[in-house]
Amino acid sequence: MYRPLVGRATRFSDNNPMPSSAVSAPIVSTAAPLAAVDVDLIIVPWFEDEAPSAVAGLDRAVGDEITRALTSKEFAARPYDSFAAGVVDGTWKARRILLVGAGRLAAYDTALARRVATVGALAARQRRVARVGFLLRPGRADPAGDYDLAGFMQAVVEGITLADFTAGVYKTGDQAPAAAETTVVLSALNDTSPESQPRIDAALARGRVLGDCSNLARDLANEPGNTLTPREFAARTAAIASSGGAAVEVLDEREIEALGMGLLLGVARGSSEPPRLIVFRHDPPGAPPGPILGLVGKGITFDTGGISIKPADGMERMKDDMAGGAAVACAMRAISMLRAPIRVIGVVPASENMPGGRAIKPGDVLRSAEGKTVEVINTDAEGRLILGDGLWYARKLGATHLIDVATLTGAIVVALGKVTSGIFGTPESWVEQVRRVADRAGDRVWPLPIFDEYAEQLKSDIADMINTGGRPAGSITAAMFLKEFSGGLPWVHMDIAGTAWAEEARPYLPKGPSGVAVRTLAELPFTVDSWPR
Ligand code: BES
Ligand code: MN
Ligand code: ZN
Repeated sequence: MYRPLVGRATRFSDNNPMPSSAVSAPIVSTAAPLAAVDVDLIIVPWFEDEAPSAVAGLDRAVGDEITRALTSKEFAARPYDSFAAGVVDGTWKARRILLVGAGRLAAYDTALARRVATVGALAARQRRVARVGFLLRPGRADPAGDYDLAGFMQAVVEGITLADFTAGVYKTGDQAPAAAETTVVLSALNDTSPESQPRIDAALARGRVLGDCSNLARDLANEPGNTLTPREFAARTAAIASSGGAAVEVLDEREIEALGMGLLLGVARGSSEPPRLIVFRHDPPGAPPGPILGLVGKGITFDTGGISIKPADGMERMKDDMAGGAAVACAMRAISMLRAPIRVIGVVPASENMPGGRAIKPGDVLRSAEGKTVEVINTDAEGRLILGDGLWYARKLGATHLIDVATLTGAIVVALGKVTSGIFGTPESWVEQVRRVADRAGDRVWPLPIFDEYAEQLKSDIADMINTGGRPAGSITAAMFLKEFSGGLPWVHMDIAGTAWAEEARPYLPKGPSGVAVRTLAELPFTVDSWPR
């Protein structure tokens, strides 16, 4: 679990005020020379193509250990490799350094910098280092000789913060090591002029918020289905978003019924836990009337498949079927904390998908709030059902640009594996906009087509459409289903079924929830000037 920002959910379910966003182990910056930075360990990203002398004074401080390790090829600076050495120069405050491989300088962008920072911070945490220094190395200068200092600062602070997440919250033995107090060191740069210092510190704060909010979403996705019911999910996300400054409203089953949300109610029928519709609003003073961004997230707190029940093997993973909804809620927190310049609406339909005695059955027909009827062929295709009503509600609240995020299809894992989320949508310029933002936020995405011909696969004999298009192009037909509820607005669907959860640990991402899409959603409103209108 990630503790600093919020406590246990039961605390917010009543009327207790949320703890503030004070973080226990702060991140600060300094322009002091490396030798003077008073920490236990200094982490230094290291490039493949550079000489041991690339960071002034460093090799000498460790008794030429860098020269030795590079010459012997013990350390080749490939991404995520690491090399530790002790400081022998008594005039240095730090006792140890840790080089983290950063690959070739020419290929070092903010996405890689973020990951390198996570690798370094995770290593420091495993070693239970209390005070860490991190040398900021902002890649290669642009043709004008400038560095993207703020961009790299934000990315490394995100990366350092992402290392604070702990999965084993229900372990009763030794506690996981605490996060280190971290000082980002700017002194290896030529440009630490006083003009840029406020911008760099703003980037630090921004990276901290985005990293924190990603970790909060990971906490939610990690939470088991027995503790995170739709009601509890609503209470926790409401606390998370409202303590960041967003307005939150939670609609109960009666209000959902009054809105006519037959798709959400249909999915919820098989469970004894009632559904919730969680609505977030960021309405900054002085914001223009439009555009209004509408974020919609899938909030299935557990997906058994319903009557079309899933096989037992691996079903426990379906506790994270609310990762899209968590991303929306935690992005709303970030959006409010960072004071995005436009209005943003978040809508998260939340339900269990269970095979109870009153559950919907294959062949049942449901009526959506919009009026369209759906023949349910497979009750395990529940995400698109609740999102259909969610997209309609975001439009009803005035959204002009839509993006939905969902652990929607196993087929996206077949298409893109566990590395890349699928994106779908219209018009192309809106898809491209989301793609650019996601690239920079470190969420890998790739577009797939939604040609009209695929809609053939959703034809029903009895209703307006069926809810599954069969095996071919399973992720695309799921997107085509959602498109029916986008009302012709600019709309992007992000399928995160392959990326929300890491089945195998990677150097920069431990096993478990990834927090995918939080930073993309949170950054999107800040790019409004280049949106399609
Ligand atoms: N939540 C699942 C999708 C999923 C699969 C997420 C694997 C994460 C990992 C979704 O509700 C689902 O069950 N989809 C079905 C759709 C099918 C019945 C058309 C699927 O992908 O099998
Ligand atoms: Mn399902
Ligand atoms: Zn599902």
